[in-house]
Order: sequence, then structure tokens, then C-alpha cells
Amino acid sequence: MVQRGVFATAPGKCILFGEHAVVYGAPAVAVAIEQRMTLTLTPSTAWTVNGMALHAAKHPHIVSLMDRWGGVDGLKPMDVVVGGALPPASGLGSSAALSAAFLRSLERMTDRSVSEDEAGRWAHLAEADAQHGRASPMDTSTSLLGGLVVLSNRKEEDLIHRYDRSLDTSEGTVTWSIHSLSAELGGVHLVIGNTGVHAPTARQVQQLAERFAQHPEQRQAIGAIEAITRRGLAALKAGDAEAVGHAMTENHIVLRSLGVSSEALERLIDAASPTSLGVKLTGAGGGGCMMALTRDPEATAEAIEAAGGTAMITTLGNHGAEASWLDA
Ligand code: PMV
Repeated sequence: MVQRGVFATAPGKCILFGEHAVVYGAPAVAVAIEQRMTLTLTPSTAWTVNGMALHAAKHPHIVSLMDRWGGVDGLKPMDVVVGGALPPASGLGSSAALSAAFLRSLERMTDRSVSEDEAGRWAHLAEADAQHGRASPMDTSTSLLGGLVVLSNRKEEDLIHRYDRSLDTSEGTVTWSIHSLSAELGGVHLVIGNTGVHAPTARQVQQLAERFAQHPEQRQAIGAIEAITRRGLAALKAGDAEAVGHAMTENHIVLRSLGVSSEALERLIDAASPTSLGVKLTGAGGGGCMMALTRDPEATAEAIEAAGGTAMITTLGNHGAEASWLDA
């Protein structure tokens, strides 16, 4: 049989509601975006990634997934080319998309499909391995499952429960329930604005933890974000785009009051605001990306670009990771 290659894609994500509060047990809602990572795997004599020999330190997600799959020896070597429209290290989940796309590629190559639960576990562990044991399953679950994903520390009524994940960390075992939310928001788009500033998630999370230690009264913001997230969820279920946008802006105001926004983010948010139903940062903040919910994506994208950002337009909720054979 002629050995064939594999083509896989996986979506990035934005967080609609609940970042940072989710670290303290509140729910969060993420959405799979149109911008995807692509992987092309073609038969080779040795494993390479973008022309470089595969290396555990440089390609931790791929090596972790290979190990869990049973090791490199059981796999035919491939040249892996990583591409697509997801900027790295900007809070859009590019590393999780890499894991999700590679996992789907392994399934294709070995003709062995894994359960949803197992796929979620392996992609999450690959992310955790690469991030020294700290990773929530939000990015990997959204990239694998697509659509709208709700993460919570308990099973949520009225949502489609997909699987549970737990992770042993130095602070103990953390558990999450992962759900899908089916919602239709007609006639609106998200416009993502990338500041181009890299602010590591771990540093942002640490700074907020220090702030809460110094000002315990500010922890009440977690409850405020949870209430906004639940309002946002209800608005999503009702298909009420205005109310979703309103909740996004409210969520941002609380995040800003906690010091996790930045001047560059605020510039893009101010620029997008007049043409949008709602605006907020997405992810850890400090840099990275903001997003706007809008009925006029071109105008919002133009305003973001004029303010110095890089704009990307997406619908809400795109399909999860998938892989297919390349023609022989
Ligand atoms: O910046 P991102 O996409 O990695 O999102 C981070 C979200 C946080 O809530 C700040 C951290 C987390 O692990 O959930």
C-alpha cells in the first residue's frame, strides 16, 4: 500500500466570560474561532517539525502525545509542517490547537480512534506537560470539541456534559467539568484585536493571586464575574446578542478593576466600542488580545487596525479538530 500523508486542522479559542475567575472555581465560557492551526504530515525517513528534527524540548506537545500513544517506535516517521492563521503566544490557544490537531492526526495514521474522554485527557496532559504541570483543560477542550464550551468546577444543569478532567498540581488535585452549550447568535461576529504584546499567562495569574493576598476584599470580584458569566450564559441560550455584548463589557470592567488589562488593550477596546455590542479582553490580559461582539465586523476591524492592533474576524462557534488523508 502506498503510504499517505495526513492533513489536520484545529480551531483556536476566545474566552467570552470568566477568565481569571475560573482559576478560583467560577465557570468560564470559551468559543472556537474560525482561525485554525493546520498540520500537514507527509511520510519521511525521520520525524521533523517545520524542517527541524523532532525534539522534546522544542516540540513538547507532539512528543507528549506520541509517548501517550505508545512511543515513536510504533509510528511511521513523518515531516510535520505547522501552519495556519493562529498567532502564537497571544492567548488564542495555538498550543492547544497543535495538540488537538496532532491527536486527530495520530488517530488517522494509526487507524485507532480514542474516546472523547480520552482525547480530552491526552490533549490536556500534553498541554500540562508543556506548561510544567499547570494548565486548565479549557483551550484543549474547545479546540477538540468546537462550538461553545463551558468549564466549571461542578456539573452544570441545562448544559451538555461532555467529560470531567482532573489534574494533580503542587496545590492538590483540581477537577473540572467540561460542557457544550448549543446556542445560535444570528448576524453577529467577533472581531479579535491582537495588541502584539506578549504577557505570559502564568505571570498574570500570579500577579492577581498576589493582589488578592494583599487586598482580600478584592476577591469579591470573583463572585461578580461568576454572576456576569451566568447572565452571559442565559443570554447566549436565549440568542440575545445585545445582552451577551452587555455582559462581555461588564466582565471587562471587573477585569480592568483587577489590574489585568493594559494600555494597549484599552486602546483597542476604546476603538472597537462605538461599533460593537460588547468589548472585553480575552484570556490572561496584560497584552495579548481583546475581542468585540459586533454586527458590523468590517467597521470594527478597521477601527482596531487604525488604533494599532491586528484584527481577525470570526463567527462564534466553529467545528473542532479534524484530520483526513492526503491524496497519495
Ligand atoms: O491567556 P489564555 O488564553 O491562556 O487564558 C488564560 C485564562 C486564565 O483564566 C487567566 C488562566 C486559566 O488557566 O484559566
